[in-house]
Amino acid sequence: MQKFIVRGGRRLSGELELQGCKNSSLPILAASLLCGGECVLMNCPKLTDVFAALRILGCTGCKCTFSDNTAAVDSKDITRNEIPEELMREMRSSIIFMGAMLGRCGECTVSVPGGCELGPRPIDMHISALRRMGADIREDGGKIICRRMGEKLHGAKISLAFPSVGATENIILCAVTADGETVINNAAREPEICDLCGFLRKCGADISGDGESRIVIKGVNALHGCEYRIMPDRIAGATYLSMTAAAGGEIILRNACVPDLEPFLSVLEQTGCSIYTSSRDRVYLRSGSRLKAVRDRIRTMPHPGFPTDAQAVLMAALLCADGTSVFEENIFDCRYRHTDAFIKMGADIQVVGKIAVVKGVRSLHGAAVDATDLRGGAAMISAALSAEGMTEIGRICHIDRGYEKIEETVRLLGGDMQRVVKD
Ligand code: EPZ
Repeated sequence: MQKFIVRGGRRLSGELELQGCKNSSLPILAASLLCGGECVLMNCPKLTDVFAALRILGCTGCKCTFSDNTAAVDSKDITRNEIPEELMREMRSSIIFMGAMLGRCGECTVSVPGGCELGPRPIDMHISALRRMGADIREDGGKIICRRMGEKLHGAKISLAFPSVGATENIILCAVTADGETVINNAAREPEICDLCGFLRKCGADISGDGESRIVIKGVNALHGCEYRIMPDRIAGATYLSMTAAAGGEIILRNACVPDLEPFLSVLEQTGCSIYTSSRDRVYLRSGSRLKAVRDRIRTMPHPGFPTDAQAVLMAALLCADGTSVFEENIFDCRYRHTDAFIKMGADIQVVGKIAVVKGVRSLHGAAVDATDLRGGAAMISAALSAEGMTEIGRICHIDRGYEKIEETVRLLGGDMQRVVKD
């Protein structure tokens, strides 16, 4: 069993190149199924979720390689359109392969994605949208069996009840080679959607409006392989900025995409950190004295609102702030599971439904805690770096899903963190 050992009390200082984005590399890997040729993806992060996606692709007959942050996927010969349950279970977002398989093969069988640490992860919007495009989808004993009813899927006008990232992605994956035009209203506007569409356009897709609420996709006959560089991970950027804010010190992100980080930066700067953005891709942060609590309620919202994936890491930075901060988690049902670990480290947090009230304390102390989910686990590292004494973090498999070599990055910034194997 691997654990992280973190000793707090040191200020951080250094410069970082951000890893490639987990939440665009996964849909882009799924989309490579549609191309019928070879796709080469640069800046692909070395994450367990990426390796799980490559295993799923391999299981369908794709030839996949990964070396030095470059993934190559040759989807010329697809030999299987059923994804085994054990592979589906490895990665919550594997439902994205449903759209890709349906778009490529016209049929697929996947298993109902289990809930996860964030609560139930329904896919009703995915299913109803794909049915509108001519797919017959039924559940049978925990499996989802999809089949297109005609020669091809057909375009449709789809209005999403909620701007779901995954549903938007699955619709796009089915629409790019469907017959006719698809319009998605109330589409997700996350930067990862734009990265997926950038990749698909390089493969020959006809997509416009991504990044806005209305996306128009005109089906084309076929896509082809391409080379594509995955964008930097904005949530990893938010994580390291929050860590530095929590521990004190200064950091430069060399390749951040500033516009993508703005919804997060606009809240972080209210803590009293000094933040400078020198161009579209560089962010400098300095955190000197005790942070201030954020006066306005921190509401997680779809992009361009404050990102839910940054909620835990920002909370970690506010545990010792001067004053009280209030969070409102509007995206997921159970996204406060990290607060128990913070309280064990001495934090003062009260959670009622989707509200978390964080009253700043003078200091935190080390403790033995377990990562509850990907971003909650990263937030525990952040809290541990600002705590007095040693913190032991278990169940770090959650953290390895989304952060590439996080202990090396923290050490590069001057933090005291080791990965150890413990029974
Ligand atoms: C993506 O999840 C991300 N995952 C999440 O990041 C991120 O938190 C989320 O978008 C919101 O930005 C990946 O991209 C792999 P949603 P996704 O569909 O697509 C409900 C991380 O830490 N919903 O926008 O699953 C759903 O239950 C992960 O990197 C339905 O009710 O998010 C949730 O409450 C965590 N029915 C809300 O919408 C549906 O059919 C947002 O879900 C679909 C979603």
